[in-house]
Amino acid sequence: MKPSDYARQHEADFVAELMDFLRIPSVSTEEAHRDDIHRAADFLRQRLEEAGFERVEVMPTGGHPVVYAEWMAAGEEAPTVLIYGHYDVQPPDPLELWETPPFEPTIREDYLYARGVADDKGQLYVHVKAAESWRATVGHPPVNLKCLFEGEEEIGSVHLGPFIREHRDLLAADVAVISDSHILRPDLPAILYGLRGLAYVEITVSGPAHDLHSGSYGGAVHNPLHALAEMVAALHDEHGRITVPGFYDKVRPLTAEEREEMARIPFDREAWLKETGVPTDWGEPEYTIIERTSARPTLDLNGMWGGYTGEGAKTIIPARAHAKISMRLVPDQEPEEISRLLVDYLKAIAPPTVRVEARILHGAPAALIERHSPAMEAASRAYEIGFGARPVFMREGGSIPVVTTFQKELGLQPVLMGFGLPDDGIHAPNERFYLPNFSHGLQTVIAFWEILAEHH
Ligand code: BES
Ligand code: MN
Ligand code: MN
Repeated sequence: MKPSDYARQHEADFVAELMDFLRIPSVSTEEAHRDDIHRAADFLRQRLEEAGFERVEVMPTGGHPVVYAEWMAAGEEAPTVLIYGHYDVQPPDPLELWETPPFEPTIREDYLYARGVADDKGQLYVHVKAAESWRATVGHPPVNLKCLFEGEEEIGSVHLGPFIREHRDLLAADVAVISDSHILRPDLPAILYGLRGLAYVEITVSGPAHDLHSGSYGGAVHNPLHALAEMVAALHDEHGRITVPGFYDKVRPLTAEEREEMARIPFDREAWLKETGVPTDWGEPEYTIIERTSARPTLDLNGMWGGYTGEGAKTIIPARAHAKISMRLVPDQEPEEISRLLVDYLKAIAPPTVRVEARILHGAPAALIERHSPAMEAASRAYEIGFGARPVFMREGGSIPVVTTFQKELGLQPVLMGFGLPDDGIHAPNERFYLPNFSHGLQTVIAFWEILAEHH
């Protein structure tokens, strides 16, 4: 039997196993889920061993562990493929908006619903099961495999950089592949050649030493929530341009060629409005939606809180107000510098009635990937086999911090071969994975390895 036939025959079992993986609430940002993170790592370790990997280890980092596996049975002549994925997931809230509970995976029509199913457990599991399909038929994969599955991607991969630097030899490979993104449509695959970076800052504005009665003090004490709201409102002008001085200084302008190419990417405005649920779009008028969401930098308020948010009414001037602000970066903006610029600007525009404290949470630079390589060509051909169409090359607005680490530390240009769809709802309630993409993804990965082995 061929690996592709084995995969087709065992799809239902693969999905059932994936559902067990999804039942583990491996939320990396919450301390309460520490045990679940370890359970998820251990689950992967067992499945990798069963799939045939020879050396499988849960390895410590400064934070959540890395699951490392290797299978070097294809021989010294064959290329080595380094597979990256993340087994941590985003928090599931708001819980009340889920139609079925986030950690009770459920199939409805052609979709599997659960937190982390598309981002990234379902996508990384494709590679594990592709390996198993080779083991059960041919005996071993046609290429040597190394897996690096981390548990901190959703919190910025802060300990992965040092881990990779300390294990350069262990991770040495010819090709790196990451399935943690989406294609355009079930019949239109996509390979990413660019990702935005990220700079994340938390701001606290404080006024009075403690909450005050708003009747006794209101009128003479500046409310920190108001001060913060004014500061945040000043971060964009009326055209959606960011006002932080120096923010755009290092932004590499888009070339005419790149803009033409982006204009050719199929884009359905009505479908986009439906997918987002917004009445109309917003942002820099001189750029298209595709450009604004993948090749231009942004600044967003992720959450703002303070004072009384409980039931009914309470009359106070709160002592403190908080905001979480993230910025998506493009080449050649530097995360530390951009965070600094924001903090300096917020301090400069803060009224004298409040104090401002800032905490820089994490950052990752933007990535651009070399597009013309044998691995990219192999991936295109593999998509053609798995999905029946040549992929589109495009940039994406999300961030995957490991991409630039692979480039810098391992000298690898990762192939960003995603299997999700734009409306999977990653990071949102009712996250889902389109099951036909799971099976087409399997066929794609099986073919990818075969093509790499033939052309090495
Ligand atoms: N898989 C996403 C990144 C992504 C999203 C790629 C959409 C392509 C399309 C990843 O898990 C993610 O959410 N990354 C974070 C990174 C951050 C916490 C450093 C992001 O982009 O917010
Ligand atoms: Mn992801
Ligand atoms: Mn994510």
